[in-house]
Amino acid sequence: MRSPDLGPFSPDTLYHGDALDLLPLLGAGSIDLIVTDPPFAIDFRARKMNYHRTGSRVLEGYREIPGHEYGQFTKQWMEEAFRVLSPTGSMYVFSGWNRLKDVLCGLDDAGFTTINHLIWKYQFGVFTRKKFVTSHYHILFAVKDPGNYVFHKVEHYPEDVWVINREYWKGRKKTPTKLPSQLVRRILAFSSNPGDMVLDPFIGSGTVAVVSREMGRHFLGFEVVDEYFRFAQERLDGGVPAGARERDGSGERKEHAEGEN
Ligand SMILES: C[S@@+](CC[C@H](N)C(=O)[O-])C[C@H]1O[C@@H](n2cnc3c(N)ncnc32)[C@H](O)[C@@H]1O
Repeated sequence: MRSPDLGPFSPDTLYHGDALDLLPLLGAGSIDLIVTDPPFAIDFRARKMNYHRTGSRVLEGYREIPGHEYGQFTKQWMEEAFRVLSPTGSMYVFSGWNRLKDVLCGLDDAGFTTINHLIWKYQFGVFTRKKFVTSHYHILFAVKDPGNYVFHKVEHYPEDVWVINREYWKGRKKTPTKLPSQLVRRILAFSSNPGDMVLDPFIGSGTVAVVSREMGRHFLGFEVVDEYFRFAQERLDGGVPAGARERDGSGERKEHAEGEN
């Protein structure tokens, strides 16, 4: 196995800090795959409005980016993402529709080639009165070199619309933006090998790290909010049960929708 230059970081570790400060410390070409769900630039009211259940169990303090800064923020972290990826590296970035333009431009400007524009269809978006209910996210699958990247065709006919349920963590601490593990597992199965180094610069509750470890990949994660960082660490340490069951009712990821109208 190659030994990537992780700078001051150790493999299989989460770090509490700002990704914009930490990414530049990573060695060029040190990461095989980036899977990330960056903060969004919308009015974040998940804890107050977007939940159908006890707000007190939802962690606070999630860091959003003001709308007018979002383009620059995206450009800055994506340039670093491109630099730290290995020549055969790939990146999956999640985005709601309302800031998709910034994400697409950021990918182009940083030098990525977008291979697929995936849609994640989830269930039970936020109820609306005068518009359609948002019930999908965009996942941009982008690579450094379109002529040479990892893609294991683990299915014969892998379509670009993924219908995957959110998970329900009954009676436990919750984070408002947790990705379903099944979604991350799918990405890792198609676009990484055992032993690869997987980075999530906006780790939130730690899903990318937890799934990477489960699948025999190395990982590195950054999170700026202390409460989230500690929660992710707790999950990795086994303090939070790993298996969350799929939910059939109202779910977690409500913050990227536009709120209730
Ligand atoms: C959409 S959430 C990620 C959710 C995660 N995929 C999960 O499954 O829980 C984005 C995270 O990025 C964090 N964040 C925002 N700005 C950041 C920054 N500059 N550096 C590091 N983390 C940041 C937020 O606090 C939030 O936890």
